[in-house]
Amino acid sequence: LARNWAMIPHVTQFDEADITALEAHRVKLNQQNEKLGIKVTILAFLIKAVVDTLKKYPEANSSLDGDNLVVKHYYHIGFAADTPNGLVVPVIRDADRKSVLEIAREAAELAKKAREGKLSPAEMQGGCFTISSLGGIGGTKFTPIINAPEVAILGVSRSEIRPMWNGKAFAPRLMLPLSLSYDHRVVDGAAGARFVTYLSQLLSEMAPAMKVAAPARKKPQTRLIKWQDERAKRVGLQNRPAALGSIPSPKVAAPARKKKPARKSAVRKPAKKPKKR
Ligand code: COA
Repeated sequence: LARNWAMIPHVTQFDEADITALEAHRVKLNQQNEKLGIKVTILAFLIKAVVDTLKKYPEANSSLDGDNLVVKHYYHIGFAADTPNGLVVPVIRDADRKSVLEIAREAAELAKKAREGKLSPAEMQGGCFTISSLGGIGGTKFTPIINAPEVAILGVSRSEIRPMWNGKAFAPRLMLPLSLSYDHRVVDGAAGARFVTYLSQLLSEMAPAMKVAAPARKKPQTRLIKWQDERAKRVGLQNRPAALGSIPSPKVAAPARKKKPARKSAVRKPAKKPKKR
């Protein structure tokens, strides 16, 4: 962490989400699923909302490999866990393909294993993005340190009921503090602000739209991008985004598949900027 703090130009963008409706939904969900023995905390919803935000802002779902920016099209989300032996980051793999209940159950199992010191190295590897939730402990805001080679991390603090102006009157709302630290070589300030604003909006609006079932499985991918702009050069990188085609995801990301002949679309004309999704 000390090396990441020293080597990565961090910026932290703060925001908060109105989770009044989401919290009511969470309480109801826990009542409905009491017999299953699964307790859903806000972490599971955060993971779902982060996945959707990463889909919209894929720059944050990337890692720097020398001069290359590898943009991932799979969603392995790590979460910091406080254990008697220190901080560890178990990873929920393919979080986009899992329901909130599945994520909650897996996170609880991984957190338990982490506290018992029983996590395997594979269970802590391959993360795309990390969430550090200190909400169960307390505090209002903090600056999380990026978990390299990832380029962004979300910090979450304790939610509290506060009077919010709704245009006519103050109303009590449950507000969740968010802090997004990002690598400024990869994510611009405006993009960082858009990311956290979108995430906050999703959390505020996701309760009625929640899907409990896991969506259909899709093939994970990564995309390799070269950097070639002045800003990148200033910070020691040589090339600005120009899509070079697709490379397969790391072995840990998906089961082995039969080799297929290269698709024509794999070789593309260099683009000035990565497409937003
Ligand atoms: N606001 C208010 N309450 C919150 C909250 C938030 N943002 N997040 C969690 N809580 C509540 C939970 O609902 C739960 O309440 P309950 O016992 O009344 O049901 C309680 O706090 C404990 O939750 P927790 O055990 O922390 O569950 P979690 O799923 O939220 O978090 C871990 C799981 C593993 C992330 C967490 O236990 C942990 O280890 N956090 C520390 C991370 C860390 O050290 N980060 C620093 C990195 S530098």
